[in-house]
Amino acid sequence: MLEVNGIEVRYGSITALHDVSFRVDEGEIVTLIGANGAGKTTSLHAISGLLPLSGGSMTFLGKKINGRAPEDIVRAGIAHSPEGRRVFSGLTVQENLEIGATPWRRGRDSISIDMERVYDLFPRLAERRTQLAWSMSGGEQQMLAVGRALMGRPKLLLLDEPSLGLAPIIVEQLFDKIVSINRLGVTILLVEQNAAMALSVATRGYLLENGRVILADTTERLENHELVKQAYLGG
Ligand SMILES: Nc1ncnc2c1ncn2[C@@H]1O[C@H](COP(=O)(O)OP(=O)(O)OP(=O)(O)O)[C@@H](O)[C@H]1O
Ligand SMILES: [Mg+2]
Repeated sequence: MLEVNGIEVRYGSITALHDVSFRVDEGEIVTLIGANGAGKTTSLHAISGLLPLSGGSMTFLGKKINGRAPEDIVRAGIAHSPEGRRVFSGLTVQENLEIGATPWRRGRDSISIDMERVYDLFPRLAERRTQLAWSMSGGEQQMLAVGRALMGRPKLLLLDEPSLGLAPIIVEQLFDKIVSINRLGVTILLVEQNAAMALSVATRGYLLENGRVILADTTERLENHELVKQAYLGG
């Protein structure tokens, strides 16, 4: 579904990704794990068209996506729930969800159908639909960021560190939802520093270090790999 072939991304003179390759097949949950500064967010920004490539290429459903505008990539079926959630704090839950629907310029009926689907998935958001986003807990804001991304009816959902700053019990609940979203037919590329949680829900994973893919395997094999156990799963 998504193929990332040997991409290089630079910030000025700094090369953040060196010859990075990975793929996500339809129906999968694939994870990119790695420490601070490994290049996880940069990889998602490159896919979403927010950063240009200085080398390599990317295809989605067989079509080249590098060089295309971010809105074209959303239209092609890729939604991005960014690191740090980035919900619109002065808007309500409902208004935030409506913003997620705008790239499609669909009618009100269709937007409300999609919104009800998000509310079915996250009843907590339904209870808070008129509440301003800033007044919600971190976990609720994360649900909103994921819900907003789902409003574009994506085929592929990019999730950047959904566990960031959340208590372990909330992370578990959120990851159950991520699995539910996947079962509804949405393919997921999950970026996480929380390797244990990410590996528990994904089928395959890639370990990034200093902008390079250093391991690519099934999650079962990654969980049992000495390097992953020592450095990323707490020994
Ligand atoms: N806007 C920027 N300008 C310059 N360098 C940047 C910029 N954004 C990221 N970098 C650098 O690129 C590298 C990869 O950063 P990136 O944000 O992709 O890492 P990450 O794996 O998402 O880390 P984290 O887990 O902390 O979110 C780092 O060395 C970082 O300092
Ligand atoms: Mg990041």
